[in-house]
Formats: sequence, structure tokens, C-alpha cells
Amino acid sequence: MKPKPTIAVLPGDGVGPEVTSAGLRVLEACMPFESREGLVGGAAIDATGDPLPAETVALCKESQCVFLGAVGGPKWENEATRPEQGLLRLRRELGVFANLRPARFLGLPTPLREGLARHADILVVRELSSGVYFGEPRSLGEHEAVNTWRQTAEEVRRVARVAFTLAESRRGQVCSVDKANILETSRLWRRVVTEVASEHPDVQLEHRYVDAAAFALLRAPQSFDVILTENLFGDILSEEAAVVAGSIGVLPSASFGSGPGLYEPVHGSADDLVGKGTANPTGAMLSVALMLEHAFGKPQLARAVESAVVETLRETRTPDVGGNATTDQITDGVLRHLRWSRWSADSEEEPAAHADWGV
Ligand code: NAD
Ligand code: IPM
Ligand code: MN
Repeated sequence: MKPKPTIAVLPGDGVGPEVTSAGLRVLEACMPFESREGLVGGAAIDATGDPLPAETVALCKESQCVFLGAVGGPKWENEATRPEQGLLRLRRELGVFANLRPARFLGLPTPLREGLARHADILVVRELSSGVYFGEPRSLGEHEAVNTWRQTAEEVRRVARVAFTLAESRRGQVCSVDKANILETSRLWRRVVTEVASEHPDVQLEHRYVDAAAFALLRAPQSFDVILTENLFGDILSEEAAVVAGSIGVLPSASFGSGPGLYEPVHGSADDLVGKGTANPTGAMLSVALMLEHAFGKPQLARAVESAVVETLRETRTPDVGGNATTDQITDGVLRHLRWSRWSADSEEEPAAHADWGV
């Protein structure tokens, strides 16, 4: 018998455990797998004093992929050791450098005019391993604090290649976002991205400054295809892009390097929602769809999950997107729609896929 695929599950803090368990229920409906849980973030600090214990690193490295909830929360805000350090170290340990954050219209209410949001389908490709997040030296003193923004050509090249390759199977446009009018790191970024563009003649490249891009993203979100940018700008712009989908709670992400991939919703620990049972599990479920496609090579199942999520959101919504449903009700709805899609499938292995997400 073939061994079951292994997944390291790191629920983390706040609503992390609630949304990962919803995501796992969806994955269980799709394929057999073996999951093992590990500690990360504040939960790991409380248990061991370390936001990323060595056992967690070992568990993740020996698994096929990692599914993470969220880290952080007010409890650890003023501590010297913060939960967020656990997530940053995990990304480093796994060597994941390309963070995919798709944001598209899901039929949910958005503050944008519907005409603008309806045709928006954006993929932010965020560099995840470098920039000011990781630069040394860094320090915090009484009167002065220091961070270092460092960027190497190779860090830019490898993530740019991911973005251009993905653009080839989408609408063939890359918008590279930087601050090359001010930052040397951005000038290097722009030069290397331009070089990589010449390897992909079918993809159209434009460069934009981050301030102008932040404006354009709300003025004309439908005009963007792939947005390629560095770590900090990508953190900010991907969350801005959530406006087209309706809530930060619905955005998924996948991070790739040379080893196991890391799948996590974009949102944080949402302390205000803990225990209410109303956290939106959509970001976690769509991260499971990314996992089905990229970690397990099951794009048809990924499409089935996406369609089941969109179908469910037509009638059942959590409060962040204007409804009063619970996390469990959304999950039950998605499972119902998935069963229907399985029942109507030709093959047991791969259920019927819809051509798109149906919105
Ligand atoms: P947050 O994403 O936790 O919350 C921002 C707002 O979005 C809140 O109003 C929250 O209720 C809402 N929200 C978030 N997720 C939701 C969901 N699934 N369903 C419904 N509503 C949701 O961001 P924050 O308040 O800026 O940060 C809180 C903590 O989370 C901080 O410690 C931060 O460092 C951490 N954080 C972690 C991650 C991660 O683990 N990947 C990402 C972002 C923030
Ligand atoms: C995210 C988060 C993280 C980041 C934090 C928690 C380290 O905001 O995943 O978007 O800034 O990358
Ligand atoms: Mn963020």
C-alpha cells in the first residue's frame, strides 16, 4: 500500500486552531493523509519558551508540506521573544522564498464598486526570505533603533523567475513594484527583474513605484495580473488586495522553496474573534486548495474545493463578510458542496472540476 502523504500542522495562536481544523476537514474529504501537530508562535513560547522549538522544525522538514494557522496576539506583544519570530524563522528554515497570495472576486460584498472588483484576479508574488525583515545588523535601544535593508541579485532572480513563469499561464503581465526612486535595493531589484523579463518574451513587464501601485490597486484592481514585489511591500500590498475579495479572512497563501511548501491563510490571529466560533475559514480552505494543487499535484481537486467554497459563500457567510454564520456552518456547507461535486464526478480519484470558480 502506498504510504499516506504527511502534513505538519501548526495551528498556532488566536483563531489559528479554529481555521486549521476547518481546513483539515476539507482536506479529509479530498484525500487520505497523515497529519502531525507541532507548536509555533505564542503557543510554543508558553509551552517551551521558544516560538519555534527544534521538534517543530524537524517535524516540518520531514513532512511533505506544512499547514499553519496564525501566530501572535496581545498576550505576547510586550515580550522580548515574540510569536512572529517563530514564523519568520520557520520560513527561513524551510528556505521558502516565493510567497503566492492570490486575491480575486468571490461574489462577496466589497467596498469597491462591483464593476471594479468583479473582474479583479490578482496574484501577488512576494519575496519571502530577505529585505528589511531579515537584514543585519538590527537593534533596538532607548534612543535609537536600527534595521538593515539588504537585497542580493540572486534573491531577486529566483523569485522573479517564479512570477514570470506563473504569469505565462495567466494573462501574461507582471507588474514589478519597488521604490527605485529612493532605495538602492530597489534599483538592484528593477535591474534584475528586467533581466529575468528577457527570458520570458511572452510576458509583458511594467515597473511601478510602491506608492503609485498602492493607489492603482484600489483605483483599477482589474488591471493587475501578477504583482511581483519584495518582502515588506508584498506584505502590505497583498493585504490591500484583500479588498477585492471582501475580507482579509478569505485570502490564502502558498510559499515555495527547495523543500516542503508552507500553506497558510494571510490573516493573523484575530484575537477579537477567539472562541466566538465565527472566524472565516475561507483563507485556510483556499490554502488547502493551493496545497492540493502544488504539494499533491491534484489541480482538479483544488478547483473542486474552490468551487465548493464559492458556492457555499453564496448562501452562508461569516460576520466579516456580512453574514451571521459560524465557522462550522461554512465548513459543513463546503463539505456538502464537495460531496455533490464528488458524486457527479466521472472518476473517484479526481472529482468533476468546474471551468472557473463560478462567480
Ligand atoms: P489580524 O489579521 O489578526 O486581524 C485584522 C482584522 O481582520 C481583525 O478585525 C480581525 O477580526 C479580522 N480577521 C482576521 N482574520 C479573520 C478571519 N479569519 N475571519 C474574520 N475576520 C478576520 O491582524 P492584526 O490584528 O493586525 O494582527 C493580530 C496578530 O496577528 C499580531 O500579533 C500579528 O503580528 C499577527 N499576524 C500574524 C499573521 C500570520 O500568522 N501569518 C499574519 C498577520 C498578522
Ligand atoms: C504575514 C504576517 C507576517 C509577515 C508576520 C506575522 C511575521 O504579517 O504573513 O503576512 O509580516 O510576513
Ligand atoms: Mn501580513
